[in-house]
Amino acid sequence: MSKIYTFEQVAEHNTPQDAWLIIDGKVYDVTAFVEEHPGGDEIVLDLAGQDGTEAFNDIGHSEDAVAMLKDLLVGSLDPASMPAKSEKIASVGQNATTGGEGRGKLALACALVFFAVAYYVANMR
Ligand code: HEM
Repeated sequence: MSKIYTFEQVAEHNTPQDAWLIIDGKVYDVTAFVEEHPGGDEIVLDLAGQDGTEAFNDIGHSEDAVAMLKDLLVGSLDPASMPAKSEKIASVGQNATTGGEGRGKLALACALVFFAVAYYVANMR
């Protein structure tokens, strides 16, 4: 199916009785699927009418899970209609960068330990 939907159109399908999800620029009708979802229905319904790309990919879904998407496809998303960044996506993005910050902090802690030891050794003489 190659119908193209705008983000606003997808956003209207945001109830348990009518739930659509965007993943990687494709639009999926997950209404019937959520009950069978191994990760539970709520986690998917929370994203109904929104872009679930990051959430879907972050979980590290199996190839089987990706293959299931095919049956749920209703069309594609008009990329031009995508809002700059939704709050949800922005917060996931922030989490992604915290990983980098975490590594920065670790490097800083290592440097501090190094200088502390160097100071200690230098003062032992
Ligand atoms: C239509 C879209 C989706 C499909 C077809 C799908 C399919 C699946 C499948 C088959 C599994 C079992 C494990 C695996 O094979 O990877 C699974 C697990 C899981 N899914 Fe999804 N999923 C979808 C959307 C989502 C979304 C949007 C989220 C997060 C917001 C999510 C969160 C999870 C979690 C947390 C598990 C792990 C359950 C566990 O291991 O206990 N899924 N999903």
